[in-house]
Amino acid sequence: MRRTPMILDCDPGHDDAVAIMMAGADPSIELLGLTISAGNQTLEKTGRNALNLVQYLNLDVPVCPGSPRPLIRELQIADDIHGESGLDGFTFPPLKRRFDERAAVDFIIDTLLAHPEPVTLVTTGPMTNVALAMRLRPEIIPNIRRIVLMGGSYGYGNVTPAAEFNIRVDPEAAHILFTSGVPLVMMGLDVTRQVLVREEIIERMESVGTSAARLFCDLMRAFNATQREVYSLPGGPLHDPVTIAYLIDPSLFTMQHVHCAIDLSHGESYGRTNCDMFDYLGRPRNVHVAKQIDAEGFFDLVEHTLEQY
Ligand code: BDR
Ligand code: CA
Repeated sequence: MRRTPMILDCDPGHDDAVAIMMAGADPSIELLGLTISAGNQTLEKTGRNALNLVQYLNLDVPVCPGSPRPLIRELQIADDIHGESGLDGFTFPPLKRRFDERAAVDFIIDTLLAHPEPVTLVTTGPMTNVALAMRLRPEIIPNIRRIVLMGGSYGYGNVTPAAEFNIRVDPEAAHILFTSGVPLVMMGLDVTRQVLVREEIIERMESVGTSAARLFCDLMRAFNATQREVYSLPGGPLHDPVTIAYLIDPSLFTMQHVHCAIDLSHGESYGRTNCDMFDYLGRPRNVHVAKQIDAEGFFDLVEHTLEQY
């Protein structure tokens, strides 16, 4: 099987953790490395969480720490959802794994320049690292096959009425990606809110019985509790793994190719992804936006992932 070479830029994070599990287990994906952004928690904590995850899952991939803060804004974290550690709900064994010596931006640049074929980037956190790499070495851009990102929404937001967290934390970075000319696939809240990890899903995954299933269930119970408290949702939206599900099986999704721009106006909608779903403006289409996901097919993929560890 031809594998898709991929870098995952993430800020673990409960749902990032599941994205890592899926990317690490699927035979169609060649996970070249994890690059870490500040977002759900400080870089120190998201980095530590990433190391704990690769150690626990026994994944042999480099983990490269990224920028400790967004390009322009002060860092805004999501400790109301992900807790004090950024990954509350599971106690990992003592940490032995260490960071790769390369910084995230260097890893992204070196990998893209050295790889014989274009590489897919997946971002499940604020896009600071990829934006910095693009600005520093624009010659990497043609070697990015596409970017599949979790972020934004053509409907409403989750940290302001208009904006989704990953975009709102670093809107200027998102703008750099959205205007880069690289093919973009946007998994926004519109689809991630269609895959809620209700208690019956957790019970189903519990019966898988592997070490990854235990990790999944403990993390998701903690995630659900905060999602219920903050958004009154009956289950946490499993945002980030939707990107990996798209790479594994795009037939699970209904997509639309649209023009999308980031609102950088510093008004109430700062950080909104303005998707021109009706092509009012007639501008060049730069983003494939997901509108529907087959939730049953998605959770089958999650279950299959958990069986692999
Ligand atoms: C996004 O924000 C983070 O809290 C999650 O990990 C996800 O990437 C959802 O808005
Ligand atoms: Ca995330």
